[in-house]
Amino acid sequence: MIRFGIVGCGNISGTHAEAVQLIQQAELAACCDINEEKGRLFAEKNNCLFFSDYQRMLSEAPIDAVIIATPHYLHGEMTKRAFAQGKHVLCEKPMALTVAEAESVLAMWRNQDLAYAVCYQNRFNPSYLKLKELIDKRHFGRLKGIKCELSWQRDRGYYEAADWKGSWAKEGGGVLINQAIHTLDGVSWLVKLPNKIKGKIMTSLLEGAIEVEDAAMATAVIDEELPVVIHASNNYSSDPAPTVTFDFEAAEVVLSADKLRVAGQEVLLAEAVVSAEAKQYWGNGHLRLLQAFVNQLTKVTDPGVAFLAADDAIDSLKMVCGIYQSDRENRWVSLK
Ligand SMILES: NC(=O)c1ccc[n+]([C@@H]2O[C@H](COP(=O)([O-])OP(=O)(O)OC[C@H]3O[C@@H](n4cnc5c(N)ncnc54)[C@H](O)[C@@H]3O)[C@@H](O)[C@H]2O)c1
Repeated sequence: MIRFGIVGCGNISGTHAEAVQLIQQAELAACCDINEEKGRLFAEKNNCLFFSDYQRMLSEAPIDAVIIATPHYLHGEMTKRAFAQGKHVLCEKPMALTVAEAESVLAMWRNQDLAYAVCYQNRFNPSYLKLKELIDKRHFGRLKGIKCELSWQRDRGYYEAADWKGSWAKEGGGVLINQAIHTLDGVSWLVKLPNKIKGKIMTSLLEGAIEVEDAAMATAVIDEELPVVIHASNNYSSDPAPTVTFDFEAAEVVLSADKLRVAGQEVLLAEAVVSAEAKQYWGNGHLRLLQAFVNQLTKVTDPGVAFLAADDAIDSLKMVCGIYQSDRENRWVSLK
């Protein structure tokens, strides 16, 4: 039995709690939040111990692993504190606020015998898994270009509801680091980390409400010749599933959270796991991801273990931070 403690009892915590409850070899033993009211309610609902202090949860709670679901600026530090206490870590994206901090997390992890994964749950969607299989078999021939498109609605109310969102110091950026990072992970995981990137960010409709960007566009290049076109915005009127379009020699392939279209035809996929908590546009992969994480710890054979993001979770962060740096310095940024 793997006993979990969740830190951060906000929006996404219910999705993790639901997944832990559904996995036979997992148990939710503790939770932690600096907001006592929120944390106690979560503990009551999930029948687990409550801590208002993370360090106390790490040292006193009967837990083997932590799920980190706090504001972005805490991810790197909380991951390292968990490693220092001998706890396995499943951390929400991004793994840290900067590439340097993410590298220091990976360096510490490599010196421990502990499991570590970052929550890129879309990798477990049937659409992603099918496309990975087809790309690995070189099914569509040469890849000529990639296009990423994310248009969601994150209005002033969204940013007002959390004191950390919309701030460079606490969120680390806007639509790129929080929303589009999943889409960028789709590129680096399914194909490869680009070698360079050039981009621009801006704050448009949310000007005055947030410091960070609500829109971004960028071009990246893989292997010096393959263009990756990136468009992201939080200024739309609803939340359609983001898409990654792959322009292969043999067909155009469009990947979204739960669908895969090849040359305009929808590919029939395995049933996705349905969650009451997960929103459709996040994909439903949290349960499958957590199951793979638990299977890794309990030594149950599971092909999903290979899809967990750890070392390679840094790639999408490199793309995001590369766009921010490129915007500041108005030049191409190397990602290697
Ligand atoms: N994978 C996904 O699709 C997905 C979806 C939504 C959110 N997320 C990620 O989940 C994380 C949390 O996002 P959210 O929307 O749930 O945020 P939220 O603001 O709703 O919740 C964060 C919680 O952390 C608590 N907290 C802050 N500082 C703390 C501390 N020092 N110790 C303990 N608790 C503390 C806050 O009180 C709050 O309850 C972010 O990294 C976000 O990017 C991921």
